Amino acid sequence: MNASKSLCLTTMFGSALLCSTGCDSGAGHQAGQLELGESLFFEKALSEKGNTACASCHRPESSFADRQRGSVGQNGKPGRRNAPVLFNRPAVGFEFWDGRALSLIDQVAHPLADPDEMGSSMEDACRRIERIPKYRTMFAQAFGTARITPELVATAIATYVASLQSYQSDYDRGRRTGSLLPRVLRGEKLFQGRARCVLCHVGPNFTDERFHNTGVSWKSSRDPGRGEWTGLQQEMRAFKTPTLRELTRTAPYMHDGSFASLDQVIDHYVGGGAPQDPRLDPVVRPIRLTLGERRDLIEFLGSLSDSRRPPFQTPSLAGQ
Ligand code: HEC
Ligand code: HEC
Repeated sequence: MNASKSLCLTTMFGSALLCSTGCDSGAGHQAGQLELGESLFFEKALSEKGNTACASCHRPESSFADRQRGSVGQNGKPGRRNAPVLFNRPAVGFEFWDGRALSLIDQVAHPLADPDEMGSSMEDACRRIERIPKYRTMFAQAFGTARITPELVATAIATYVASLQSYQSDYDRGRRTGSLLPRVLRGEKLFQGRARCVLCHVGPNFTDERFHNTGVSWKSSRDPGRGEWTGLQQEMRAFKTPTLRELTRTAPYMHDGSFASLDQVIDHYVGGGAPQDPRLDPVVRPIRLTLGERRDLIEFLGSLSDSRRPPFQTPSLAGQ
């Protein structure tokens, strides 16, 4: 593999970044890639009709998720799935609810080539932004070339998405300072114990990054999820476990946005998901929780957001 094209991970300002031009690329280039990636993320000219940016569905003020059940693309039609939170995505790993892209770089081509989301192809998107003079300068600063290619567009956008991090929640702060409220601690104990949430929502990002059928699809969308393209019966209606960080700003929940509140999410798990679904993950079983225990669990989930950080704003460069 050509070393100058190899994908590598590096660290800047404490966040994982991607660089496609080799790990020896200077800090100036890295900052340039991040700035360019941000600009492209908010760029409606990337879409064929000039009306949809990544940020149109991944709303900065909603932790880069979408408040609409099905995200609406350039044709004004709602899609079948809800846009997930973009915080803490690994550079390499399963992307999308069904894991059909394998890295943040691969992921970028999907919305750009989907006529209902943004357009027809990465090449067409490149041609559209080539006409905007500022991008020539920005590509030169980021990559040392003014030639706008699909690979560089994907790298810049992926660098920006990888920089979106949330690890400073109220819970993290409270744990550090020993000031967690008793109800949050009780909720955490349930989460890790009797309610069995931690069996899938595990680790610092509260996800195993794996696929499970929790019965949501059986109850509402009947979306085949991961099984649709792996063809495996055991993966029917399975979806990737999402992070539980920043939930307070990201309703509605689940792959189809079918739950409007955390109360509804807890009702779902307390009821054992969809017990009639023959492919339900065996870990999902009815849970006995008192009303107070439900409240404690929701307090814990709420504490995984950073209530002190002002919501992200759509930058002025977005032209929205
Ligand atoms: C029309 C709305 C829409 C647009 C525009 C859009 N997305 Fe998405 N995005 C979604 C939806 C819906 C999903 C979930 C789809 C699925 O899983 O099948 C998603 C999933 C993702 C994921 C996967 C996250 C995860 O946890 O698996 C990433 C990353 C992402 N989008 C980034 C982008 C970027 C970058 C752009 C711009 C190039 C973009 N999106 C444009 C709606 C949109
Ligand atoms: C068997 C694995 C598994 C277990 C156990 C589990 N979850 Fe989930 N969780 C998932 C998956 C997979 C999804 C996405 C399902 C879908 O959209 O169809 C999900 C979605 C969620 C969501 C929605 C997040 C969003 O951004 O849309 C919340 C909130 C949640 N789970 C909380 C919990 C809580 C609380 C518990 C314990 C009571 C729990 N989960 C137990 C796997 C699991």
